[in-house]
Formats: sequence, C-alpha cells, structure tokens
Amino acid sequence: MLLTLVYRSHISDSVRPASLAEMVSRANIENERRSITGILLFEGMHFFQLLEGPEEAVDAIYSKICSDQRHNNVVVLMRDYAPSRRFGNVGMELFDLRHHHEDVVLQAVLDKGTSKYRLTYEDRALQFLCTFVQAREKENYLEILPADAWSFIADEPLKPEAGFIFPEMKDYNFTFQPIVDPLSREIISYEARLCGPGGGSPMEYFSALSGSNIYEADLRSKKLAFALARKMGIGDKMLSIKLLPMTLVRVPDAIGFLLREIVAHDLVPEQIIVAITENGVATREDNFATALQQLKASGMRLAVDDFGAGSAELLLLTRCQPDKIMIDRNMICDIHTSGPKQAIIQAIIRLCSSLEISVIAAGIEKPEEWMWLDAAGVCNFQGPLFASPRLNGAPAVTWPEIKQEYTLMNQNL
Ligand SMILES: Cc1cc2nc3c(=O)[nH]c(=O)nc-3n(C[C@H](O)[C@H](O)[C@H](O)COP(=O)(O)O)c2cc1C
Repeated sequence: MLLTLVYRSHISDSVRPASLAEMVSRANIENERRSITGILLFEGMHFFQLLEGPEEAVDAIYSKICSDQRHNNVVVLMRDYAPSRRFGNVGMELFDLRHHHEDVVLQAVLDKGTSKYRLTYEDRALQFLCTFVQAREKENYLEILPADAWSFIADEPLKPEAGFIFPEMKDYNFTFQPIVDPLSREIISYEARLCGPGGGSPMEYFSALSGSNIYEADLRSKKLAFALARKMGIGDKMLSIKLLPMTLVRVPDAIGFLLREIVAHDLVPEQIIVAITENGVATREDNFATALQQLKASGMRLAVDDFGAGSAELLLLTRCQPDKIMIDRNMICDIHTSGPKQAIIQAIIRLCSSLEISVIAAGIEKPEEWMWLDAAGVCNFQGPLFASPRLNGAPAVTWPEIKQEYTLMNQNL
C-alpha cells in the first residue's frame, strides 16, 4: 500500500543550511532506488517533510531520518494510506521557504503537486503543509533537550523498611508509588495499589470471590493501605487509593467505612484521594453520581485514573468534576514523537485548566516523555523514571538534575 508519512523537526545548531542541498541530492538517489517521493520544506529553523511510497520503504528511510543528528525533535504529524502520490515527480525536492515571497509560496509548493486529482484543501496532508507554510500552530512546537542532558540521582527510601506484619497480608498486599513534582523535588502523594500476596495481580485475590463480595473486599482492603501508610510515615502527604467504581454504589455506607478507618489510622479525609477508573456502566448509573457527591462532601478528593483509555470519561466530567485526573500510560508513551498524542494531551490540559482539575501524567519511562509534558504544562508525574512501585513500603525517588553543559540551552528553550 502507498504510505504517506508527514513529520516536522528542528535543525541542529551545528548544521549550516547551505549543506542541505548536498544532503538532498544524496537523498534523491536513495529515494529513487526505493520508489519514494515527496517534498521537504525548510523555513530556516524547522523541516517539514512529506514522504510517499511503499510502506516498508518509507518506514526504513524514516527510521534513518529519525536518528540523523542534523535535526532533532522529530514529530510525526500524519501516517496514513493514499490512493496516489501527491508529489510524484521528485525523489525529494528541497523547498526553501526563505527564498520565496510569502504570497506566492503556497502556490509554488502546490505547483509541484502531481496528483491526478487536483490537490484539494480536504486533503489532510495538504492541510498540514499549508499550516507549516503559513507558520500557524508554531506555539505548539514544544522543543526539548536530548535525553542525556539530565542525570537522575536517587534519594533515600522512606523508612521504616519492612518488618511490619498485618493478618490481611497473607491474602493481599499493597504497592506504593509516589507522584512527584520533579523540578521542585517534591513528593506530592503516594498511590497505594492493591496486589496479590508477594506483589502479583489483584485478580489473585479477587478471583476467589464472587458477586458483591468483590466490592466488599475491595473496600475493606483499604484498611491495610491506611495502616501501611501510617507505618511508612507519610506525614501530611496525600494518599491515593483505587476503588472499583461500583464499590461506592454497591457497598452500603462505603464512605462511612472509609472515614472511620482514615481517622483510626491518624489520617485526615482531606489527604485521601479516591481514584476510580472510568467505566461506561458505572458512570451511567444515577447512584454513581450520588456516591461521588457524598465522597466530595466527606472531604476526600476524587481522581479519575487511566484518563484517555476509556470512552465515557468526558461525559463523567459533565456530571462530577474530579480534583485530579491521571492520564493513561498509553497516551503518554513516546509522546515527544507523536503529533496526534501531543494534540490530544494539549486539549486535555486546556480542558483541565478551564475546570481547575490537576493533571498527573502516569507511567513515565523516558526523560523525553517527562520533558515534553513539562513543556506542555504538566507538573505532576508518576512512573519508573522517578520511582517504581514498592511492595508494602515507599520506594526511593530519583530526581533529575541538569548537566552543566546543558544549563544555558535549557534556559533558552
Ligand atoms: C530533514 C532531513 C530529511 C531527510 N530526508 C531523506 C530522504 O528523503 N531520503 C533519504 O534517503 N535520506 C534522507 N535524509 C538523510 C537520512 O537521515 C540519512 O542520512 C540517509 O538516509 C543516509 O543514511 P545511511 O548513511 O545510514 O545510509 C534526511 C535527513 C534530514 C536531516
């Protein structure tokens, strides 16, 4: 199938624009050999390239292009299939926007088009090209340093270590993972997650139960989370506990139970965040909205977990606004290279800002993911880049420290 791949990138400081003609003439030979065509635009700082050709060939060239040191911050804007080539005459032509008058530049680019159908403005690839030529969307070009600009330095873990045993621990345990503000070196909260004995899936525990016993067990298990949090010495940090959405609806006096256990463990309701996963069935029930209202009235905070992975959470936001949302890992994985993910996350950030909901990015593994999200305005992060979950205790956190040689570059971003 004929693949169209569109990306943009930032020229590296060490590259002289005059050397680009040489690079393109080499690229032409390679592209012709692989039956790849397209167009390369340059406006003095950014590249915009449209590659068209057989899928395997385009992917192979694109992976070389991605690791090319002559540019950085490579972001795929579009990867789609097309019935015919848009720019079929040239292996790769460089179009330097600086050498053309603004009024004629778009027409000059379009004149290169070879599609048997006239290039129309309904064509998404063409829309991307127009946006680049007209320098729209530039405020969304968030540029980040290379991953190796940062060192990650480990802190001390919270004491006490292990050694405390509760009777429930033979059936289930909890892992604790901090949510951090990396640049102010602050632990914002701990997330306690139910797991099987020894750290396995919570299904090890739930699968032995049936019907409403699952919700009852889900609720009662939180007593151990509170007990462990107190032993760990979380002080006045927030503690996030995850509940199945129906637990609040199906277990009578669920909120009363939580409140009694919170007080019994020297915690206060305002430091407890109840995280629920958006669930289409639960959010449509009237009782569910009532349960959430009672939860908010108790002083506890509400968070929506795995935001972006489900289908009904936008509707949920119209009925009951949480204090926090945790964006799903799948939406965040390699966000620094994905135009579609960037557009969605920027929209979520704007939405949450309008509703005064704080945003947590979960599952951060790569420095680039954290840097991009930080540049987009997210301050709170969770993931193995900073700390992995630890069984029945709080893990050490690794904090980012910029390397001296990148300090100036960081200030200029
Ligand atoms: C902005 C930009 C666009 C490029 N476009 C192409 C291209 O269309 N085709 C190509 O073969 N190489 C292109 N290159 C060069 C490749 O990144 C790479 O240097 C080339 O494929 C040779 O790779 P090799 O030395 O591993 O064989 C481009 C490089 C840059 C920085």
